Amino acid sequence: MSCITVLSSDKYNPQFVLTNPHFSYACGVFDGRFLSHLYFGAPLENTAGLKASIRIRDFNYMPQTPWRHHSSDYNTEQVGYVQDCIPFEYPSWGRGSTHRGALECEFSDGSTAYSLEYRSYHIENAIHQPEGMPLVHPDSPGTTDPQWQTLCIVLVDHERGLEITLHYCIHPHVQTLLRWTRIRNTGDTPFIISNPYSASVDIPGPEKDLVYLYGSWGRERHVQRIPVSAGMHHISARNGTSSHQTSPFMALVDPNTQEHNGQALALALGYSGNFQASCTLDENEISRITIGLYGLKKKLNTQEQFDTPMVVLAYSNKGMNSLSHSFHDTIRTCITPPHWRNIPRSILINSWESMYFDINEKKIFELAQSGKEIGAELCVLDDGWFSNRRDDTSSLGDWWINTDLFPRGLASLADAIRNMGLLFGIWVEPEMISKRSTLYENHPEWAVHIPGLPLTEARNQYVLDLSNKEVQHFVYSQMTDLFTDISPDYVKWDMNRLMTEPYSPTKPAAEQGSFMHDYMLGFYHVFGKLQKKFPNIMFESCAGGGGRLDLGLAHYSPRFWTSDQTDAIERLPIQYGTSLFFPPEYMGAHVSTTPNHQVGRTTPLHTRAISSLSYSFGFELDPRSLSKDEKEILLHYSNLYKDIRSKIQAGTYYRLLGPLEKNGTDRSRSIHNPPQKYAWMIVAEEGSSVYVFFSQPYKTGLLHGHALGLPPLQYYSPTSYVDAHTQKEYSTPYLAQIGLPLPSVSEDYHSMSWILHAKKS
Ligand code: DGJ
Repeated sequence: MSCITVLSSDKYNPQFVLTNPHFSYACGVFDGRFLSHLYFGAPLENTAGLKASIRIRDFNYMPQTPWRHHSSDYNTEQVGYVQDCIPFEYPSWGRGSTHRGALECEFSDGSTAYSLEYRSYHIENAIHQPEGMPLVHPDSPGTTDPQWQTLCIVLVDHERGLEITLHYCIHPHVQTLLRWTRIRNTGDTPFIISNPYSASVDIPGPEKDLVYLYGSWGRERHVQRIPVSAGMHHISARNGTSSHQTSPFMALVDPNTQEHNGQALALALGYSGNFQASCTLDENEISRITIGLYGLKKKLNTQEQFDTPMVVLAYSNKGMNSLSHSFHDTIRTCITPPHWRNIPRSILINSWESMYFDINEKKIFELAQSGKEIGAELCVLDDGWFSNRRDDTSSLGDWWINTDLFPRGLASLADAIRNMGLLFGIWVEPEMISKRSTLYENHPEWAVHIPGLPLTEARNQYVLDLSNKEVQHFVYSQMTDLFTDISPDYVKWDMNRLMTEPYSPTKPAAEQGSFMHDYMLGFYHVFGKLQKKFPNIMFESCAGGGGRLDLGLAHYSPRFWTSDQTDAIERLPIQYGTSLFFPPEYMGAHVSTTPNHQVGRTTPLHTRAISSLSYSFGFELDPRSLSKDEKEILLHYSNLYKDIRSKIQAGTYYRLLGPLEKNGTDRSRSIHNPPQKYAWMIVAEEGSSVYVFFSQPYKTGLLHGHALGLPPLQYYSPTSYVDAHTQKEYSTPYLAQIGLPLPSVSEDYHSMSWILHAKKS
């Protein structure tokens, strides 16, 4: 059955409806010219319903303007600005439109105005992805059968030689819509494009809230919720990564939307570099939400084309949790590297916070040995194992083993650790070069820099110019040799500095405007080739913690180092925000030592374990310094994790308490106003078991505890659940409406967890 319906009153004004069991999305041509957004919402069930809904919706979309009342008298010369009241599918700038366009153009005569008009459409019975930036793996469910479809709608500015092809990819079982845009020069002279959006969606009505993610190093992806107000709200990353400061994700939600109810739609870009996302409330009370590239300027010669990255669009009328589930499901079924889809995440012990640069063969072996005692299954050797790297001032680029520290090499250490029954992983930072390195001595020109200007150092390092094919080849060969030699089971791929001199001396001046994007294509190319060559290596992505966590990299990495913030309390909002678009198994979450190395806080071991347990569990501490009791506690949690991890990976993650739950009429939450309680749960398939986690950072002074309601349980069929610890039985409606009892808390950093099993009748 096709997911795409074309309703045509006449061939000049087709309407396109994309429908699957999860959503419908519609756009249509007006006046034989303009492609207008019509609908993004709950599935529309039949063609009559489609027609009726679209008629109502598109009429409602038209504000009080000449367009609405006198559409038959419409005359561009008289009311040129009238295009501003059309909810465009891919907005133009100039030539009748005064709003911001979906891209900026500079034509050879110096003019910048363009007007995109409908030309044609076609449907491909396959998924069609942008060049060099695929999101969906070829062997994902549905990619090899004819169920994926791509609707391609062509818009043109004939006089300017500008052709835009909007791509909409839909699959009956994929819960999200994938959109991207191809821009082509069909004229006789070159022109320049800047900052193209991948997608733009116009939603009528001013009463909306904007939800996005914001933060910094060690404080990534805190949820922000603000009422949409007149004008533009814009977030962007411009440092060559999808960034610590914000994330390529934006949601527009109804004011009454909460975790378990209400309408929401969101856009997440499948891209790891510079991006922008914005929400503009215009004078016609249309909220335009957009996402796309940023800091890009690209010359297109005759017949040349440029592809934007893909954007994943999700809609929910059951609140933010259900919106997140659509992203989680899409990532799990289509974007995760196929090899890792159903493989349980190993419990990881990492050398970084336990040893930093103070490592050697004996210590790492002991780390693995003592890690095993607390349940670790994978020992990762972090920074400091190569060349002369004894601190962070040197050696990036010189990826040979330091034989003073590891006299028998890493392959033999890896074997010894494997013989012990653990897997072995290493840390690399392949995109970087230290000034003090042999690589820099031999190839200073490979560092990203602007000739004639001093290079900015950050963490004593520079970035390798991955827009240069020679460098791409070098990095690929270096990593291939290393991985072949050591055969790691796991590679932590780090990236610890930003780009502030975007320039490649290998390119002419006219091509420098696309440097950051060319870098990203080079990076994906190298990473993709390595992933294909070493499908059995699990690649974890890291960028000073979570500075490059996005759907684009999820295509290569089934795990992210969520943040360098390892404090259990500080990580609560980070995990919460990340879960808006990422499933829990993607988030590396390690139990660290106390006082915590980032914030100096001392938290109970139970709290540190509980805050990590439902994600990709691991350790960032030295078990050799733990007491017997502490080891027993951690072993207990490791065993628990082993029991539940496949359920975490296949189950449904719900946020119960946190920043998105409104407090009275307060619609704004910010990093300065964090919530007082966090709770989340995972429901295993069909509600057979439920794992609930609760953490209250600060004691409240309340005399009585409250109950923790589990409203999502109403969607599941078991009539009652039994608490595995107390054997107490709770009816499902009771759990949904009243919930689990919370004790009154007399100390800070209190956490609890419950395992509930559905009662067998
Ligand atoms: C930054 C990472 O986020 C840390 O976990 C660690 O790997 C260091 N880099 C090593 O330099």
